[in-house]
Amino acid sequence: MKQLPKDFYWGGSVSSFQTEGAYDEGGKGVSIYDVRPTPEGHADWKVAIDAYHRYSEDIALMKEMGFNFYRFSICWSRIIPNGDDEVNEEGVAFYNRLIDELIENGITPMITLVHFDMPYHLVKEYNGFASRKVVDLFERYARVCISRFGDRVKHWMSFNEQNLHAMNLLYSNAEEIPEGVSKEKHLYQVAHNVMIAHCKMVKAVRELAPDAKVGGMTTIMAFYPATMTPQNNLFVQEMNNLVNMWTVDVQANGRYPEYYSAYLKERGWFPHFEEGDEELLQYTSDYLAFSYYRSNVLTSGELDLEHDYASLLDKHVIKNPHLEATEWGWEKDATGLRIVMNDMYARFHKPLFILENGMGARESIDVNEQVQDDYRISYHRNHIQAMKDAMLKDGVECLGYVTWGPIDIPSSSCEIAKRYGFVYVNRTDQELLDLRRIPKKSFYWIKKVFESNGEDL
Ligand code: BG6
Repeated sequence: MKQLPKDFYWGGSVSSFQTEGAYDEGGKGVSIYDVRPTPEGHADWKVAIDAYHRYSEDIALMKEMGFNFYRFSICWSRIIPNGDDEVNEEGVAFYNRLIDELIENGITPMITLVHFDMPYHLVKEYNGFASRKVVDLFERYARVCISRFGDRVKHWMSFNEQNLHAMNLLYSNAEEIPEGVSKEKHLYQVAHNVMIAHCKMVKAVRELAPDAKVGGMTTIMAFYPATMTPQNNLFVQEMNNLVNMWTVDVQANGRYPEYYSAYLKERGWFPHFEEGDEELLQYTSDYLAFSYYRSNVLTSGELDLEHDYASLLDKHVIKNPHLEATEWGWEKDATGLRIVMNDMYARFHKPLFILENGMGARESIDVNEQVQDDYRISYHRNHIQAMKDAMLKDGVECLGYVTWGPIDIPSSSCEIAKRYGFVYVNRTDQELLDLRRIPKKSFYWIKKVFESNGEDL
């Protein structure tokens, strides 16, 4: 029987703003998440799960679950409070403690530099990544982190889900559209600037920590056509290229793919290149990292002349009658993971890295202080099996399976009611309670899986 490689990575992935809390401690500056209102009924980001103070307890739980890998993000405004001022040594010391404790517990750390957040000052003062000044400030931040942590951290990640920058879905996109510029042209310029920032970070890793590995990260959805028409299939292919693959394509091949350039040029949205940008794009990734949660069925459509990818996608997604969805409408589809892994590996021939996978559910502890989350066990079992099939039957190379939010955290819109963890955290959106960590049924199951290197499903 074929088995996964002995050095396969198993673990969990989080962001700073969804875990740390301590929003005004340790010399931290104001982050964009500190000033944006959250939807009504959701929590705010001030405490999250208080990992800033409780990380030791969380690492002990991760160790118990058999983790050998943990991906976290650095909060930029802890390291350089306003983004353009001096380094905050207290922030550096916090991440040094976190990294050291992970390594002492046999857990390999991976750092993401920007997981959606950035110092608020950079948005207010420079209009965020619309400005090349912010690209340079990001490079400075990256170089500070790599030189301070690169002696121990050998896995680096620039931007979380970088393709979202061209989808108008991020707070870290610039706030203001310059006069006389269309929303789309602005958006794709920001996406280009972020790509250049990513490449500058790859270059910095090559220079400052040459033995480390580095890559970008993309959110990937499996897309299926709603009908059998050739037009519908063509539309699915176009959307797969433009929504999922273009960032991966650049990071694998070192240049913008033709389908992307042609799409933008036809609409007059192709970004302005500064001197040296072509050369920077050639700093390619060591691995192609991605998040995968679900698939989507798309009706037939035309590439719209006026819409960004997110609104184009929105117009064409319909429900899949063959799949069950979570309460939030995310259709659970393990086979979709095998399909996208095959698609990516066949196109790019670089190692893949699954950095986020999981399902959100509304949960509470029962009278015995337990959460019977059999649905989560079945979600991960199916996805791990699909990944193993892609690797062992189809020959895809993949470095690890890293779950999202292994200890409950608020969702991306700060809804703690949407839980992903193997460990329950005792708080609600309205009340902080005692933030106690309580293993769910899936905790014991995932431990068994990780400790058997994926054999015991
Ligand atoms: C990814 C993000 O999009 O998905 C995470 O990297 C996010 O930050 C996760 O939390 C799950 O999405 P959500 O909206 O359910 O939290």
